[in-house]
Amino acid sequence: MMRRMRRLRKPGLRRMVAETRVSTDDLIMPLFVDERLKKPVEIGSMPGQSRHSLESLAREVEALEELGIPAVILFGLPEKKDEVGSGAWDPAGIVQRAAERIKETTSKVVVIADLCLCEYTSHGHCGLIKNQEVANDETLPLLGKTAVSQAMAGADGVAPSGMMDHMVAAIRAALDDEGFSDIPILSYAAKYASSFYGPFREAAESGYSFGDRSGYQMDPANALEALWEVRLDIEEGADMIMVKPAMPYLDIVRMVKDEFGMPTAAYQVSGEYSMIMAAAERGWLDGERAMCEALTSIKRAGADMILTYYAKEFARKGWEG
Ligand code: PBG
Repeated sequence: MMRRMRRLRKPGLRRMVAETRVSTDDLIMPLFVDERLKKPVEIGSMPGQSRHSLESLAREVEALEELGIPAVILFGLPEKKDEVGSGAWDPAGIVQRAAERIKETTSKVVVIADLCLCEYTSHGHCGLIKNQEVANDETLPLLGKTAVSQAMAGADGVAPSGMMDHMVAAIRAALDDEGFSDIPILSYAAKYASSFYGPFREAAESGYSFGDRSGYQMDPANALEALWEVRLDIEEGADMIMVKPAMPYLDIVRMVKDEFGMPTAAYQVSGEYSMIMAAAERGWLDGERAMCEALTSIKRAGADMILTYYAKEFARKGWEG
């Protein structure tokens, strides 16, 4: 008897034996809100993506809710930056106002606030600077304050992305102290120092004025270290953990999922998005199919949730296998 694998590759059967399906339910849409804007402005390096004003952001979230997207993650661009990043915890800061505004007109979408100082500091680093270095422990109370102000504004969850040691513990304690023990933390636990963040730094104007982020983000060469990062974040109280970027780090997604079995997110970052969109614009590949294939690979590797700039398009067009 010859086992013929091709028997199950006819259209209907192929669908029936598919092991992985990306669903709109898995997706988290990143959104940029810019305090200086009255109207949305397209992001040149990320075709199809815009920086929003407060009003256009609210309308966009309504559209996403309508399409069944379960969650958004907010990145703020403040009018003014300073040395310490005080816009991050300002009760009238841009992300705080955005969370409040979204809650006025939508009720189902989960609003996650990205929690980092880099969009708010004049030097662009993710924490306080001392002697040309990001000072870990001095940064922690600022992250705690930021989390509390985001929760007070109505954020349903916070996502610390600065890769400071002990950030999850500091944020958990600050939230609990202020009566927000029910606010979950999605930790960017294994975040690599990646060139794939290039377009995001234009989108969020979060480029840095000196050095790089290799003093706090992980070395792409390391996998076992990611397990330590994730383990420590879980011990400190992370409810969900993230691997970022996604596609160049699918081995890490798989390891983390197998080792901990926690709700696991992967972030298909700006560069992953823009590469596909740029190649599609040139006619070098079919953008829609490439995007669905990329998202499928991320889910197949073990991600329960995918942060992707393609979420809206995916929800609109549905599955393209
Ligand atoms: C900020 C932050 C970055 C991203 C998410 N949060 C940039 C960075 O760390 O340099 C990247 C997202 C993307 O590229 O899509 N800490």
